[in-house]
Amino acid sequence: MLGPVLLAAARSDGIRRLVSAAPVTRPVVDRFVAGEHLDQAARTVRDLTGRGLEVTLDHLGEDVTDPSEALRTRDAYLALAEVLSQGGFGERAEMSVKLSAFGQALPGGHDIALANVRPVVEAAAAAGTTVTLDMEDHTTVDSTLAILAELRGDFPQTGAVVQSYLFRTEEDCRALAGEGSRVRLVKGAYKEPAEVAHQDKREVDRAYVRCLKILMAGQGYPMIGSHDPRMVAITQELAHRFGRKPDEYEFQMLYGIREAEQERLVATGNRMRVYVPYGTDWYGYFMRRLAERPANLAFFLRSLATR
Ligand code: FDA
Repeated sequence: MLGPVLLAAARSDGIRRLVSAAPVTRPVVDRFVAGEHLDQAARTVRDLTGRGLEVTLDHLGEDVTDPSEALRTRDAYLALAEVLSQGGFGERAEMSVKLSAFGQALPGGHDIALANVRPVVEAAAAAGTTVTLDMEDHTTVDSTLAILAELRGDFPQTGAVVQSYLFRTEEDCRALAGEGSRVRLVKGAYKEPAEVAHQDKREVDRAYVRCLKILMAGQGYPMIGSHDPRMVAITQELAHRFGRKPDEYEFQMLYGIREAEQERLVATGNRMRVYVPYGTDWYGYFMRRLAERPANLAFFLRSLATR
């Protein structure tokens, strides 16, 4: 019930100021965010990869309204690529980007985002790794998939995200299930209208399973971005049915969520990649995590109450 309210709040500047200033917010944010600075993120990468997990790093930020901010995003990712290159993590540490942080919503934003993200994808390739384009609200999907197609011309390993709550996504999965493609399947984290997206959670789950079947039956590399035990079990059944070995797909979960399950999957021979956000602009990301799960919100409210 509260989910849509929190998702609307995720885009409100007033509420952003209020939540960011609350003294109790920081420790709760720390549960989901690896730190504000690159060296803290690097420490987390070393820790997780040391325990057999893989990572994808997200420099927090989205919806930039000024071309100079978009350049700052590019530069932050170039610094990250440099650290990953020096660490020699190879494909165990990749990067996730939100194109709205690279200027996608500015006038002429499609070309601006492409121009800003291309050097990051080049730097990732030079570091022996790759980039996955996160998916944001439905108005950005066509532009993001077109940028993906451009980038894949030179860097075929560039990854995409598809969201099962959107009606269009089964079709997108078919188009993206070919050889060499890397696709992260998620349920979707934004507030979307009924004209474009399933509103009922059970429908979103059913659509997730249909998309999963398309990707697992295809020739690409599926990345299962979900904490849902049912989706993990169905993935394993489908891997068996379609003869995929454990290194021919991977599970992905968010930093700080179901850590014991992340370790269990690695211990049982699966590839498990943790999505690690870091940086100062954590507000939108944090609010989407609260909206997803009443228990996350309860945790936040409990810390307010016990102060
Ligand atoms: P869902 O919220 O449907 O919950 C299903 C079940 O999973 C629960 O009943 C419970 O059993 C278990 N579970 C879920 N959360 C739990 C928790 N905190 N603790 C214990 N159990 C829990 N979205 C997007 O729109 N664009 C994107 O680019 C991405 N990127 C992305 C990357 C990665 C690696 C992940 C894991 C997720 C995303 N998402 C995303 C977010 C995604 O769309 C979705 O909002 C969340 O993953 C929540 O959906 P789930 O499938 O995890 O479970």
